[in-house]
Formats: sequence, structure tokens, C-alpha cells
Amino acid sequence: MVRVMDGKGAALTLAGISHHFGSVTALNHISLTIQVGERVALLGPSGAGKSTLLNVLNGTIFPTTGQVNLLGRSLHHLSSQQLRQVQRHLGRIHQHHDLVANLAVIHNVNAGHLGRWSAPKAALSLAWPQAVETAANALEQVGLLDKLYARTDLLSGGEQQRVAIARMLVQDPQVVLADEPIASLDPARAHDLMALLRDWCVQAGKTLVVSLHEVAFAQTYCDRLIGLRQGQLVFDAPVAQVSDSMLQGLYQLAP
Ligand SMILES: Nc1ncnc2c1ncn2[C@@H]1O[C@H](COP(=O)(O)OP(=O)(O)OP(=O)(O)O)[C@@H](O)[C@H]1O
Ligand SMILES: [Mg+2]
Repeated sequence: MVRVMDGKGAALTLAGISHHFGSVTALNHISLTIQVGERVALLGPSGAGKSTLLNVLNGTIFPTTGQVNLLGRSLHHLSSQQLRQVQRHLGRIHQHHDLVANLAVIHNVNAGHLGRWSAPKAALSLAWPQAVETAANALEQVGLLDKLYARTDLLSGGEQQRVAIARMLVQDPQVVLADEPIASLDPARAHDLMALLRDWCVQAGKTLVVSLHEVAFAQTYCDRLIGLRQGQLVFDAPVAQVSDSMLQGLYQLAP
């Protein structure tokens, strides 16, 4: 059994992380610590390294150099089974939520139990849905209780993103790693979803790391901004300390 930390302290730590894809340097000597309960936005132009950084933080990319510590465990000392146990405490949300399109919503929400459920129980649940009340509670929190048995691909993009959030509520991770979760949503739904994520994190003491292209959303829903450009940290500061000129510098086109 992998022990993961609880209470206050460092949730995620990167020390001297670099990552190369062939000749491309996606991350260049990044060091940072994310404390339990922080809400951190990753900002930066396309190709800056935001998704790569999130994938290092969720243990799916093993960096070329540097040390990664996830929930009190060094990535370098984990077997693949131990890594999977740590990853159960890391919730992931993507722009293109990885839901199974032709299944009913309840099955996608119940995927939040995978890792806790045995393979036979997971298989049984596909024929005979298990933990219906838990799934219904999660869907109620995201305003989709009436869609419990709807086919997932018949929902709108915004509703499907909410199903992904409901799945995450069922998973109940310690840390949420979200990669452009609002990129395909209109402004009202984007605010709705970010508020939902923020409120859940605040109420349950969860940690959030979210990559965003919308600076105003980052300033509204997060308390710390990390600017990345060409794989390097440009700034890492509380929201109030990040000025407009710092943000302009982050996004300016190369001369
Ligand atoms: N699997 C891969 N193979 C090769 N190069 C990659 C791979 N993934 C990312 N890269 C490169 O690494 C760099 C960082 O990419 P990354 O996807 O992390 O950027 P990003 O900040 O998430 O960009 P965007 O805002 O467009 O999503 C880019 O130059 C990209 O082309
Ligand atoms: Mg990306």
C-alpha cells in the first residue's frame, strides 16, 4: 500500500526538471513546489511546455533529467504498480475529455472507481451499474442528475466536460491536473466549470494545477500563476504580483 501525504505541505515537487522530445527541449530546468490546497494556473504560448509539465506532474512522462516528487513519493523509487496507486490520487481533466462515447453517462462516471474496484466488479458494473447513488450524487453536483442513463455522445460538449468532472468527484483525488479544461466551452459555461472546480477544491482542501490560455480566468480562479515560455519558467508568483507587462512579455511573438 502506497502511503500518500495528507494535511498541509508539498503536494508536488519538481527539482531541476528537463525534458527533451528528440531535439526539442520541452522543459528546461524547471524547479517548483506546489503546496497542498494551492490553485495554480500554468500560462504561456502554444508549445511553451504546459502539457508536458502536467504530464510530468501526473507521472505519465518520466523527465529526461531531474527529480519528481508526487504526494510525498519520489517518482524514481516507484514500481509501475506503486505509480498507479499514486495516480489514483491525481485527477486528470483534458480539453478533449477521454469519455467513452457510446456508453451511458453512469458508466463514464463510475470509471472514477477504477483502480479501487476489482476487474470483476468493474465488468459487472457495465452490465449492472454499481454505486448508482454515488454516481447520482456526483452528477447532481454538476447539474446533470437527469442524464444518469443518457448516452454520453448525445450530450453537448459542455455537458460532457461536466461528466468528466463528475467522474473526478467520484475518484476523489487529492490533486486535480487539468489541461485546458475550458478550451471548447463558451464563456458562460467556462466560468461555470472553473467555479465548480475552484469551489470543490476550496471546500475539500484539494490542490489544482490547470493550464489555461485565458489569462482572466487564471486570475479569477487561481491564486498562483506560473508563466512558461520555450520550456522555461518566466515567472512563478501570486496572482497579485503578476503585472500586465509580465503577461505581455510572456505572450509576445518572437522578434
Ligand atoms: N510527444 C511529443 N513528441 C515530440 N514533441 C513533442 C511531443 N509533445 C510535445 N512536444 C513538443 O514539446 C514542446 C512543448 O509542447 P507542449 O504540448 O507541452 O506545449 P503546450 O504549452 O501545452 O502548448 P499548447 O498551448 O499548444 O497546448 C513543443 O515544441 C511540442 O511540439
Ligand atoms: Mg498543451
